[in-house]
Amino acid sequence: MRGIILSGGSGTRLSPLTKITSKQLLPVYNRPMIFYPLNTLVKAGIKEILIIVAPERAGDYLNLLGSGKQFGCKFTYEIQDKPKGIAEAFIIGENFIDQEDAVMILGDNIFEDDLSEQIKSFKRGGKIFAKQVPDPQRFGIVEFDDNMKAISIEEKPKRPKSDYCVTGLYIYDNRVIEIAKNLKPSPRQEFEITDVNKKFLELGELEVAMVNGKWIDAGTFDSLLEAQNLAKEKLADKLII
Ligand code: G1P
Repeated sequence: MRGIILSGGSGTRLSPLTKITSKQLLPVYNRPMIFYPLNTLVKAGIKEILIIVAPERAGDYLNLLGSGKQFGCKFTYEIQDKPKGIAEAFIIGENFIDQEDAVMILGDNIFEDDLSEQIKSFKRGGKIFAKQVPDPQRFGIVEFDDNMKAISIEEKPKRPKSDYCVTGLYIYDNRVIEIAKNLKPSPRQEFEITDVNKKFLELGELEVAMVNGKWIDAGTFDSLLEAQNLAKEKLADKLII
């Protein structure tokens, strides 16, 4: 399985901090933010990792992470010229993914749980990770039936059918490349990961796993602070890189 960390975007919500460097390189306690999603992948045995970055900050990533050899990994880099959506990662990453399955994590997503077994046990189709949130209008939202089987997925619904958010960790088999290439841009002009998930749901091949521990999308001042505290209290001694 190949790994992808999507670390593009301009991080305008964190300006002026993001005038210094990329959002995903800002400090979260004693590591740059991207180390947390990187740990999630490396703990699961993923060593070949594509890091997708914005053009203005590519040099910062190379300086910090290099070839990956010092972490026992092999890093590849690609540029996302404009923030055209999460699903674009599978188009940019086509050659890198090759014939393999792909696990993608967003560079600003921090998970308290060790998700290694959930990643390793992936077989085929799609697998997403859900977490109950207080503000479902802000996220991709998955609705379940009584047996916890997914029945609908919507991106930032005005009237959410549940409060289970689809977090920024996604695993797909190789069909994701073709699915991503056939997407139409959404009203916000992005290739939506929610549309990829809808496709696997239609095929009856979308598995939903629950996130038990904390999950933070560290893209705002308050969530960045929350991430710092989580990192200090719970994560620092569990990191392997
Ligand atoms: C994106 C996805 C959304 C997902 C969220 C998780 O939202 O579109 O489905 O729930 O990441 O962080 P965005 O960051 O683009 O607003």
